[in-house]
Amino acid sequence: MNISTQAVQIGLEWDSGTGAVSVPIYQTATFRHPGLGQSTGYDYTRSGNPTRQSLENGMARLDNGARACAYASGMAAIASLMMLFRSGDHLVVTEDLYGGTCRLFDKVFSRFGLTFSYVDTSDCEAVKRAITPDTRAVFAESLTNPLLKFADIPALSSLCRDHDLLLIVDNTFLTPYLLRPLDLGADISLYSASKYLAGHNDTIAGLIVARDAGTGEQIYYHQNAAGAVLGPQDSWLVMRGIKTLGVRLDRQQENAAKIADWLQQHPLVTRVCYPGLEDHPGHALAKRDARGFGAMLAFEVADTALVEQLLTKTRLISFAESLGGVESLITFPEVQTHADIPPEVRARLGINNRLLRLSVGIEECSDLIEDLRQAVEA
Ligand SMILES: Cc1ncc(COP(=O)(O)O)c(C=O)c1O
Repeated sequence: MNISTQAVQIGLEWDSGTGAVSVPIYQTATFRHPGLGQSTGYDYTRSGNPTRQSLENGMARLDNGARACAYASGMAAIASLMMLFRSGDHLVVTEDLYGGTCRLFDKVFSRFGLTFSYVDTSDCEAVKRAITPDTRAVFAESLTNPLLKFADIPALSSLCRDHDLLLIVDNTFLTPYLLRPLDLGADISLYSASKYLAGHNDTIAGLIVARDAGTGEQIYYHQNAAGAVLGPQDSWLVMRGIKTLGVRLDRQQENAAKIADWLQQHPLVTRVCYPGLEDHPGHALAKRDARGFGAMLAFEVADTALVEQLLTKTRLISFAESLGGVESLITFPEVQTHADIPPEVRARLGINNRLLRLSVGIEECSDLIEDLRQAVEA
């Protein structure tokens, strides 16, 4: 079945009693036991809730995994995932990582004895050089944030297999609609579902999908033990979002490609990062492994003064953190999403005071371009 169809079908297997087409929101903390030693299959919502389970089952199918777990946020998902490791373990991690993940690793999990090496995960040789006898996993973003570097998941997967490492892929920017990390050899995929999956800038959620049942069981163990689960109402919102994932992303990508072209030709724009552009270093890999190039782009303006001008003078595009929703958003990574990346690393990567990130929405493209034009030329 085509993945867009699969996405629309999410949740439809539920409530055969009433035939409800939309999954009911089981807004309950607990469940009555039919008798001593008996259970309906649900005992307490932290351990399992039918609405959340419907999302989890649907997501496992969409990403071709054995099991999925839903969390209160993308960060809660990543924090829960780190509980698979123990003191002394080392992870090789994407260097232009989402700043919140970097903060969690360096400021929180480092206190529990985990160590992290940051490398360009689009360069397999660099990843190989960073592996030590204590390495247990590679943590890569499929499409990095904000520089949009593309990871070679099949190559990383074979490297991880050779060294007996887990390959974890944060696939937030692409979603299973554009790329399925588990099909390409990853062991675990994860998502800030607050972005494209929920898709409407109206909820915060996270998801983890495991390729095999054993890893899935361990992840579920920690989901229940640590308890940062997604509530029933938010689980329903994420499912509602997933139903339109395909049509939203088609439109968003179409808009992003046109905006990238327009930006590239603008005299006040000095650099455009978008994997759909032929000169982008990840273009060929994206063509090989993904169904599209996504709808995120980053661009550098000629002068720092233009940054504030763009952030404050766009009328349609909101100056706000986050991405992936139907509304277009513009962000300034250096002071917002990537403020927690050490300044020398930001400088090396090119996350500077002229770089802006655009999350392209589903608006009419000509309106978005006109908004950017009037702001940049104001
Ligand atoms: C790539 C990526 N991973 C994880 C997260 C964290 O997700 P959340 O904000 O839902 O906690 C984000 C948030 O922006 C992100 O961009």
